[in-house]
Amino acid sequence: MAMDVFGLLGNPVGHSLSPPMHEAAYDELDIDARYVTFEPDPDDLEDAIEGAAALGVTGLNVTIPFKQDALAVVEPDDLAARIGAVNTIDFTGDHPTGHNTDAGGALRALREQSDATLSLEDARAVVVGAGGAGRAIAFGLADAGATVDIANRTESKAHDLADEVPDATGYGLENLEELLSDADVLVNATSVGMEEDATPVPANALHGELTVMDAVYRPLETRLLRDAADVGATTVDGAWMLLYQGVEAFERWTGWDAPVDAMNEALRSRL
Ligand code: ATR
Repeated sequence: MAMDVFGLLGNPVGHSLSPPMHEAAYDELDIDARYVTFEPDPDDLEDAIEGAAALGVTGLNVTIPFKQDALAVVEPDDLAARIGAVNTIDFTGDHPTGHNTDAGGALRALREQSDATLSLEDARAVVVGAGGAGRAIAFGLADAGATVDIANRTESKAHDLADEVPDATGYGLENLEELLSDADVLVNATSVGMEEDATPVPANALHGELTVMDAVYRPLETRLLRDAADVGATTVDGAWMLLYQGVEAFERWTGWDAPVDAMNEALRSRL
C-alpha cells in the first residue's frame, strides 16, 4: 500500500510546528506517512486542492491566507461553514470535505487541561478578540453550551460576531473587568502578548476562579498567563490549543486515537 501523504497549505509555512507534531504521531503508531508543507501562490488555491485530491493526498491542514477561501473549494461541514474558515481538508471520502479543528481543539484543550470542576456546558466564557481565532473559539464555546461574551478592541467587530454566535454578546475591552467578575473561562484570541510582554486584560480583572487560556504560544508563558497564575487561576497555554487542533485533524483523517503525549512532546521540544 502506498504511503499516506498529509500536509499543510499556507503561505508562508516555513516555521510551522505541524510537520514535527504529526510525524511524531506516525512514528509512535508506526504509520507509513509523511507530513509536508506546501506554499501555493494565493491565486492557485483551487488548483492546489484539486491537485492534491488527484494525487491521492489523504489530508491537508490549511492556514493563513487560505482558511477562508478554502471554504469555496471543498464541501464544508456545518461548523466550518458557520465559522467561515476551513483549517482541515479530508480527502478520504468521495470528494474533499472541509472542517475546522481550531474550535474543537480549543474546547479539548480547555476540557483536558482545566480543573475537573470546570463544566463548559454551563460556563460563562469571555473571549477577547474577534478575528479568525476569536471566531472559531466563540463558536466552539457556544456549541459546547457556554454563554459567550466577546470583547474586542474594535467594538463593532465584537457586536458583528456576537450576532452570529448563539447566546453571545459583544463588548469593548473597557468592559472586561465587569465581564470577568462572574466569568468561569477567559480566552485570549488576540495577538497581544506574541513576542512581547503585553496583555489585553488588566491584571486586576483576573481572579482565582477563572480558567485562563491563551491562543498565543510564543512565548508559552505570556504576561496574561503569568498574571492569571499570580491570582491562583488555572492556566492553559497556547501550545495546548495548537496540539489539540492537530490531534483532532489526525483523528479525523485516520480514525485512530492520536498519540497525544508523543505529539505534545514533539511540539513542546520546539517551543
Ligand atoms: P487571528 O486570525 O489570529 O485572530 P486577526 O483576524 O488579525 O488574527 O485578529 C486579530 C485580533 O487581535 C483582533 O481581534 C484584533 O482587534 P481589532 O479587531 O480591534 O483589530 C486583536 N488585536 C490585535 N492587536 C491588538 C492590540 N494591540 N490590542 C487589542 N487587540 C488587538
